[in-house]
Amino acid sequence: MVHGHIQVFSNIDVLLDALLEQWQTIAAESIAARGAFHVALAGGSTPRRFYARLAKATIEWDRVHLYFGDERCVPQDHPDSNYRMARESLFSQVPIPVSQVHAMYFPPQDAEQDEEGAAEQAAQNSAARYSALLEDQLPEDTDGHPVFDLLLLGMGEDGHTASLFPGTEILDESQKSVAAQFVDKLAAWRVSLTYPTINAARHVALLVVGEAKASVLSQLSQETTNTLRYPVQGIHPLGDLQWYLDKAAARLIEGPR
Ligand code: 6PG
Repeated sequence: MVHGHIQVFSNIDVLLDALLEQWQTIAAESIAARGAFHVALAGGSTPRRFYARLAKATIEWDRVHLYFGDERCVPQDHPDSNYRMARESLFSQVPIPVSQVHAMYFPPQDAEQDEEGAAEQAAQNSAARYSALLEDQLPEDTDGHPVFDLLLLGMGEDGHTASLFPGTEILDESQKSVAAQFVDKLAAWRVSLTYPTINAARHVALLVVGEAKASVLSQLSQETTNTLRYPVQGIHPLGDLQWYLDKAAARLIEGPR
């Protein structure tokens, strides 16, 4: 079972235009209501294409605060870093004040230290720091979780979103706003917003593009129970959830939408 409103677009360019329009609408509302627009970025190839599109758009960058929904536990100049990807495709191209880009930070590891223990410690520290940063920057919901104006998310072929992977403990996290998680299949630590934070957002946009996602989308659309077979099923924000799919990803979904 999935929540939200599903939109299917004939190609990625039309999809990105529609997402840009939603960004602009939410940004205008947020700036009018609270003076700023707080948005969390996703990693992955589909979001990257959107950032390139955003970099060419007319946006009030001095009112925008950029955050990250999840991060790989690597230094910021590492090829796997979501921060690096967003820097290259977006914020090195636009006049956003540096103080308004809020990265999840991982210090370079000390080669002398026990690697495994150090990686876990770095991930836990980064999650705690980011949680404190969000507490400082964003309004809170009644449970004390930070409220983003917009969260951009992707979805993996296994139904993961942000760094909420199938079978991991972070899926049960109900207190922390940001948590560290070791992901066995990646043999790596990740830091991610948790469900309570994602679901406190005013708006969530899920970008799912390409043939490779068709099978999991079809499984999701046939799920009749609320059990979390796929982590993306746990996304049901207080605000609205919009799915942005292209035709290839939506190929196996049947019935009226
Ligand atoms: C990450 C992501 C992740 C991503 C999906 C989809 O850091 O890996 O935040 O959740 O969005 O894996 O990625 P694609 O768009 O590349 O398929």
